Amino acid sequence: MRKTLVVALIGAMAAGAMVGGATIAFAQGNAIADRKENRKQSGAAMRAIKAVIDNKGNTRDVIPHAAKLKELELAHVKMYPAGSGTGDTKALPVIWTDWRGFEAASKATADAADALAVAAGSGDLAAVGTAFGAVGRTCGACHDKYRAK
Ligand code: HEC
Repeated sequence: MRKTLVVALIGAMAAGAMVGGATIAFAQGNAIADRKENRKQSGAAMRAIKAVIDNKGNTRDVIPHAAKLKELELAHVKMYPAGSGTGDTKALPVIWTDWRGFEAASKATADAADALAVAAGSGDLAAVGTAFGAVGRTCGACHDKYRAK
């Protein structure tokens, strides 16, 4: 009786470990695709903002895009689980050896998106243009250091 129970327990633990391993591999596989999709949406938000500026449109139309940029950025920084640096990705290994720097680069974008939303609320198109340029520089700063060319 007792022996059967132990065997059953070991069997259950092994099955659990396999499921756990599969879950981790799955999460990493998704992390790369998820973060690329997230970044594509950031690119789309940037293009939408640029269109408002180029068309000298209503700066308030920029507010939801700036909010979206921030939301995407806060989600994005969580999409780099350990081990997700290999495969179809341009994420550089330095992300994981300089994690704090990477987080700071992400926060710079989130903060710049906040500043852009404030500028957009002011109705001043020139201020929006300046704040937009500042956001773009934070994107570039992270890419220069943490993304392969
Ligand atoms: C904290 C660092 C960081 C910040 C900030 C950042 N990015 Fe990126 N971005 C990356 C990394 C790393 C990749 C590569 C991801 C991969 O291939 O796994 C990337 C990839 C991209 C891609 C290519 C996605 C694809 O299809 O493969 C686009 C577009 C992009 N980023 C846009 C932006 C924009 C726009 C901003 C600013 C609003 C921004 N990024 C800010 C790190 C960052």
